[in-house]
Amino acid sequence: MRIGVIGATGYTGSAVLGILAQRPGTEVTVVTSRGEAGRALTDSLPHLAGVPAYAGLVLEDPADLEKIRETDPGRFPEVFFLAVSHRASMALAPRILALGAKAIDLTGDFRLKSAAQYPVWYKAEHESPELLAEAVYGLPELHRAEIPRARLVANPGCYPTCVILSLAPLAEKGLLGPDSPVICDCKSGVSGAGKSPVPSSLFSEASDNFHAYKVTGHAHTPEMIQELSLLARRPLRLSFTPHLVPMNRGIEATIYLDAERLPPYQEIRGLYELRYASERFVRVRPEGRVPETADVRGTNFCDVALFLDEGAGILKIVSVIDNLARGAASQAVVNLNLVSGEDEGLGIPLAALRP
Ligand SMILES: NC(=O)c1ccc[n+]([C@@H]2O[C@H](COP(=O)([O-])OP(=O)(O)OC[C@H]3O[C@@H](n4cnc5c(N)ncnc54)[C@H](OP(=O)(O)O)[C@@H]3O)[C@@H](O)[C@H]2O)c1
Repeated sequence: MRIGVIGATGYTGSAVLGILAQRPGTEVTVVTSRGEAGRALTDSLPHLAGVPAYAGLVLEDPADLEKIRETDPGRFPEVFFLAVSHRASMALAPRILALGAKAIDLTGDFRLKSAAQYPVWYKAEHESPELLAEAVYGLPELHRAEIPRARLVANPGCYPTCVILSLAPLAEKGLLGPDSPVICDCKSGVSGAGKSPVPSSLFSEASDNFHAYKVTGHAHTPEMIQELSLLARRPLRLSFTPHLVPMNRGIEATIYLDAERLPPYQEIRGLYELRYASERFVRVRPEGRVPETADVRGTNFCDVALFLDEGAGILKIVSVIDNLARGAASQAVVNLNLVSGEDEGLGIPLAALRP
């Protein structure tokens, strides 16, 4: 299958290329970068030198997609990964669909169903609202049946992947209600902000430091509410606070729920174990084991654990993912597997690099 990666030199684009390097039956034929067009891919991404399939690849300008389709149709990708900045996919996705290819979009541009939400959370009007109804939210554990038919897959955000998987078993059983807001206290490594330099990502700012950011109004909030409310079949309330941790990769979520409104702890454990028994990329951890980001680094796993704080009457759900893998690139490749009718796990790394 011929694949294109738009934004190939960014963090998630290069992570997609890293996974595709090991995926059988994959031919990456187009890689783009506006800033580095004309350079050999492996000059820009030296860690990928030595992958035979990438030896001759040259970065191209994404403005040239129509020209490539016209002059070299046999090379034109069947599926594109859009690993670009927010808002860039609003214009790119319709172009790619019009050229007859499918798109797996890693931005937030097609995750929300309501165009009215974009000015509120992303501070911009949507440029292609007609595609919002068609786009399928690419969280396989929730939308496995719809993804194979999709032309446009909206790959979930990193924090939402972790939070939604942590709460889905409760939401779909009607155990989350609008009267008790869910508190989601989340932390991310610095790579979550991408490769473009911003002051908060400087070593001198991020290292030996720890702080919350976007304490209210983070753009991932409506995505969590949308998907969990769909599962619950009623509007839910959720308060999400992200924090920046001085590490490269990884997301941890600690979620607080009023245990007195829920069934007994062992019943809830049973619910999670049953819900995820046949999900190969969600691991419900044994009682007492605290999930660690190092256990999922570079993998598509989401590790989830449940703890009952009896004295306080609080159920704590602790979960981890790798933001660049399950939160972006490996989940995107799982979606490629689904849209191309392959086994969901084709080419997906299983063993974390630890330490
Ligand atoms: N980092 C994460 O953990 C993570 C997780 C989940 C989702 N995401 C989302 O995935 C997307 C990519 O994130 P990232 O971390 O890979 O960002 P990044 O490191 O900044 O890379 C983005 C790449 O996209 C290219 N690009 C930017 N604007 C473009 C445009 N208008 N047209 C074509 N190419 C454009 C840039 O390369 P050129 O300027 O050279 O073209 C850049 O290398 C973002 O929307 C992000 O929110 C990121």
